Amino acid sequence: MCGITGYLGPRSAVDTALNNLKRLEYRGYDSAGVAYPNCTHVQVVRAAGKIANLEGVLLATPHAANVAIAHTRWATHGGPSESNAHPHGDCSGRIAVVHNGIIENYASLRSELVASGHQFASETDTEVLAHLIEANLPSGQPGPEEIAGAIRVALRRVRGSYAIALISQDAPDMVFVARQDSPLVIGIGDGETFLASDIPAVMRYTRKVILLEDGDFATLTSERIGITDLHGVPVLRFPIEVTWDDAAAEKDGYEHFMLKEIHEGPRTVRDTLRGRMAGKGRVELPGVAFTPQEWAGFQRFVIVGCGTAYHAGVVGKRLFEQLLHRPVETAVASEFRYSEPILDAQTLVILVSQSGETADTLAAMRAAKPKGAKTLAIVNVVGSTLAREADATLLTQAGPEIGVASTKAYLAQLTALTLLGLFLVQTRPCEPTGATQETIDTLLWGLHGLPAVLERCLQDEAQIASLAESLAQHSSFFYLGRGYDYAISLEAALKLKEISYLHAEAYPAGEMKHGPLALVESGVAVIGFCTQPITNEKMLSNLKEVKAREGTIIAVIREGDRVPDCADAVITVPNAAAALMPIVTMVSMQLLAYYVAKARGCEIDQPRNLAKSVTVE
Ligand code: AGP
Repeated sequence: MCGITGYLGPRSAVDTALNNLKRLEYRGYDSAGVAYPNCTHVQVVRAAGKIANLEGVLLATPHAANVAIAHTRWATHGGPSESNAHPHGDCSGRIAVVHNGIIENYASLRSELVASGHQFASETDTEVLAHLIEANLPSGQPGPEEIAGAIRVALRRVRGSYAIALISQDAPDMVFVARQDSPLVIGIGDGETFLASDIPAVMRYTRKVILLEDGDFATLTSERIGITDLHGVPVLRFPIEVTWDDAAAEKDGYEHFMLKEIHEGPRTVRDTLRGRMAGKGRVELPGVAFTPQEWAGFQRFVIVGCGTAYHAGVVGKRLFEQLLHRPVETAVASEFRYSEPILDAQTLVILVSQSGETADTLAAMRAAKPKGAKTLAIVNVVGSTLAREADATLLTQAGPEIGVASTKAYLAQLTALTLLGLFLVQTRPCEPTGATQETIDTLLWGLHGLPAVLERCLQDEAQIASLAESLAQHSSFFYLGRGYDYAISLEAALKLKEISYLHAEAYPAGEMKHGPLALVESGVAVIGFCTQPITNEKMLSNLKEVKAREGTIIAVIREGDRVPDCADAVITVPNAAAALMPIVTMVSMQLLAYYVAKARGCEIDQPRNLAKSVTVE
């Protein structure tokens, strides 16, 4: 998730665009750049690192201009570097473009453009856009309509998500913008026009904004905004008046980053799937650097992580074992590194991490490599230490996760693990696995529909908030489940612990009678997961044991399933394939934890004693 800004008007365009860009630095900050027309060509100034580094370069670069576009990057294709920083240009140097999103078919477009003589200077998918637009421009000096036409033709060939802003030396008083699955707003001033990825970036100058919609294309000047679709047909978009205060705006109007990030769950899953569902019942993992021989050679799998990332691995273990019909191990990174792990060249150690900087996880990787194991990082931050040192990287596309309590990143990790499990089946066509084509198709179809299912979970937010209010007075919580439901109870319990400071323990439901049932009494709340038909009958018995000891029972059931008689309350979640229910159920559990913590007046985004990235051992 990157940040885009632009400005057209009487102010210093570069300084205005950069000042606004700083309001978006939470969206991505591994490099930044700005472009503006000068006398002979489009001037592009970029720097690795934070926006302050770019400002330092600009001190020595004349940058008087009344039009500018700027960008702060969250790397998705190509590591964080000056050469991969936006804006990106074409061969002529007469256009520059900034982009937020993922061009799924960039590789084939890039090959086509290279074959026709275009020369690339970066590893990014964005640069493909600049050259594709150039390839559609007429020879000679194009006018604004021809530039607009070339952009629309190019975007019609693009598959994926984008919010773009483009300037051209041949239309120096204009900015061309478009959006598909990635936000872009236009701020309307008095004799000046602003553009940005998010409302906060324009609010200090104007509260009158147009929210572009998917498929919109717009030509901006300081005085005029013309909006069409990608075929040039005019489109009507009415401006709105923004009433947020500054703090609220940075959270898109949500009270906390955590709640904003819970609501970003569906987009996160969609972005993590993007470009990896190849159709015809197959998964593709472009950019994961193992050869077919290496993939087929892996005979043993160990999934390692900390906290939420470890919990994602526990779900991944169950899925891999079902798909591959071979044992899969999981390990807490801080234990793995001291366990003298017995590994060899046929072992794939999968390291799961949002930040890619967790000291214990890095240490686990460094303990595995000398033993001959191959290492695969499932990581959210491109260019992080884990991403750089692992033998291969499978990126989650959650964008920056600001809240210390991990939410959307967990959903992305489960999505990536599901794709990896399916891909591993594909790499061993001659092995007897547990995955029939029907199983694979069910999972792929389920993944395809998952973002919409998660959106439905979010629609129950009010009911969950109300239930949370009543639960906030309880002193102790058990999260009980069996199979996949036990795997998610670990993460659900952690969510409540870390932001509400309440004792919450995940336990295999069948184990309660072997001791922990002694703790159940009035005032103890039990969240009982009943989303797995194969174990529901036993789960009901376990919940009745709790009820008999006066525990409060909140049953989590699938739509259409019978409400357990012993339940004091119910959370109903949409139905999905059994292996995908952890992703579906977790959205409701994240909301439950959030609203219990809110009811208790806890500091949610930065819980006491915790850090977002635990870089100490
Ligand atoms: C989860 O809500 C916590 N923030 C914490 O458990 C976190 O998952 C753990 O520290 C691992 O971090 P990583 O994913 O960045 O490696």
